[in-house]
This record gives sequence, C-alpha cells and structure tokens, in this order.
Amino acid sequence: MKKLIAGNWKMNGSAASNVALVQALLSGASDWKCSVAVCVPAPYLAQVQGLVADTGIDLGAQDVSQHESGAFTGEVSASMLQDFGTRYAIVGHSERRQYHGETDAVVATKAQRALAAGITPIVCVGETLAEREAGRTEEVVKRQLAAVIHTNGHCISEIVVAYEPVWAIGTGKTASPEQAQQVHAVLRAQLRAATAHADRVHILYGGSMNAANAAQLLSQADIDGGLVGGASLKAADFLSIIAAAH
Ligand code: PGA
Repeated sequence: MKKLIAGNWKMNGSAASNVALVQALLSGASDWKCSVAVCVPAPYLAQVQGLVADTGIDLGAQDVSQHESGAFTGEVSASMLQDFGTRYAIVGHSERRQYHGETDAVVATKAQRALAAGITPIVCVGETLAEREAGRTEEVVKRQLAAVIHTNGHCISEIVVAYEPVWAIGTGKTASPEQAQQVHAVLRAQLRAATAHADRVHILYGGSMNAANAAQLLSQADIDGGLVGGASLKAADFLSIIAAAH
C-alpha cells in the first residue's frame, strides 16, 4: 500500500508563513512515492486549499464537530470542511482528549460525521506514560479503537488510524520501531476482526517522528505512514520524512 505522510500543524502558522511553508514543500518536491497531506488550523483551510490545489498535497483539518449543524458556537462541521475540499480530518488527537475532554464516544461520533461527509477521519489512539508503565498499552488503544469500530461498522475500512503514544508527542522521545510495530500489529488484528479490508487501512505512527528516525519506523510491516507534528513545520524535515516513505 502507498504510504501516507500527514503533517499536523497544530496551532501554528500565519497567512504569510503558510505560503512560505507550502512553497518550500512544492519546490523541494520530487517524485513522491507516498501520499502527502497537511492538516491545518480551520481558519486557513481556504488559503491552503488554494495553495495545494493540483499539487498532489491533500488538505486536512485537525478536528471536526460531533454535531451536524446548529447552536454549537465555535464548532466547525464536517460539511463546512467539505466545502473547502478537505480530504482528511484528525479526530481524537490526544491533545483534544486531554484538554477538551473528548471521550471515546465523542471521538467515534466525530469519525462518523467525517465519514458521512466523505472525509477520511484520521483516528488517533495512544497510551499515556503511566498507562504504558502499568502494562495497559494494549488495553487502552484497543478500547479507543473499539469505540470507533462499534459506531462506524461497515465503514471502518474507510478510516485512517494513527497510533500516537502520548509520551512521545512533542517530547523528542520516539517509540522504538519495535515498540510501535507491536502496537500497530495489535490494531491491525483488531481491524481484521471487524472488516475483510483491514489490510488497506493505513495505520500511521505519530510522536516525534523526524528526518532521522522516519525510515526505520516506516520500514515496519504495519506502519503505513506517519502523522507528523513538529517536523511538519520545517519544509526540509518534512521533505526528508516524505522521501523516507516508499
Ligand atoms: P510531534 O506530534 O511529531 O510533534 O510529536 C505528532 C502529533 O501530535 O500528531
């Protein structure tokens, strides 16, 4: 399967710096062997839609409302994302779970809203350091994915999964390729039990992926790409990760 490298810009960027970043990516683009996406802050969707049009870079959002429309001040619906050509929406990022109280059930509904609008949800799962040290990694990621499988049933082969150990996000500590592969294999098995098409579901690794560690992580059997935070803000680093994905 063609790998997918998705940048998660988080709450970074400006109208001016977005232009510079996308232009630097495009000028460094060679014959990419993988799919590439950038998940941008909602106010910049329209701008980045224009910047990446017809370039082969897909547009993503970082969240989507669990509601369809109505009195939900500050929320952005899946159909609004669709209006701007958004191909992906990250759902259940650990920063949303942690700082915005998103539960497994909310994340599952968000994935459902995205799918209903023709947007591929990038469903994030991952354990905290305390959970890992308590030997609960498998249990936690399986519980998080199970909620999404339960709510989305036959559509489940349409999602992307991102395994992002919370202790590795933005910390410079990466899961070793073996540690990551072990969890990816668990997630793949769980998807296999739910769909005959589990082998075409991308399972991305995220958490301090960078130019130096990407190739080894991406060579693992069940690592189908990366969800890249910090390193996606620097064109040279993001391009190196893209080059490592083949
Ligand atoms: P990081 O973030 O690459 O900066 O660790 C990854 C993510 O949170 O998606």
